[in-house]
Amino acid sequence: MVRRIRSSTTDLRKEIEGAKIVKEREAAWKKFCTIQRIRKFLKSRRIREESEAILREVLDDATIISNVSVPKTLAEALPDDVEKRDIDPRAIVVTEATGKFNMIGCNKAWENLCGFAECEIVGKDSSILQGPDTNYAGLHDAVSRLFEGEQRVNVVTTNYRKDGSKFTNFLTLAPLRDESSGNLTHFVAILNDIGDSISRKRK
Ligand SMILES: Cc1cc2nc3c(=O)[nH]c(=O)nc-3n(C[C@H](O)[C@H](O)[C@H](O)COP(=O)(O)O)c2cc1C
Repeated sequence: MVRRIRSSTTDLRKEIEGAKIVKEREAAWKKFCTIQRIRKFLKSRRIREESEAILREVLDDATIISNVSVPKTLAEALPDDVEKRDIDPRAIVVTEATGKFNMIGCNKAWENLCGFAECEIVGKDSSILQGPDTNYAGLHDAVSRLFEGEQRVNVVTTNYRKDGSKFTNFLTLAPLRDESSGNLTHFVAILNDIGDSISRKRK
């Protein structure tokens, strides 16, 4: 009888200790997740601040038009009528709104700026324009902002033409919506080659 009571007390003690360890592990995991969340938040805030500082610097330059009107629908961004599409002197490209944002079409001004023909870029993503000096963090943040509901986002990045030459791209991104449902269908980008206006100012 005494032996049975002793053994059940030991079992109980083991169970309590086991439960304690599980609780401690859960608390440590929660703490780890909170720290990771805070780190991620601080990192994205720092990236946003850096992007905004570059934009402020660039926007001081009167030659850059930041307040351009952006198309609202696919038909406005890339009219079926190619002549109409190519009247716009701004370099325009439209991407899917999911996955890696593959491009679905561009106008003549985009072809002239980037050096690729439209048939070479359809189904590809913008990584064809990227290289060592590209502002990856700023671009990632800009796209996140579109998903947070911003109607227009500006970001400055270095891009590379088909021939490998660099240009500083003042990029404006915006969502395109279905006219009747209002649903997001695509994203549009207006690219603006701002030459060396950042490096000039930083000298
Ligand atoms: C409509 C649209 C146009 C884009 N145009 C360019 C561009 O001209 N140059 C560029 O470097 N990235 C451009 N991007 C960004 C890239 O596609 C990509 O989102 C960015 O590099 C972040 O990638 P990540 O989220 O995988 O880090 C564009 C994105 C969208 C949605």
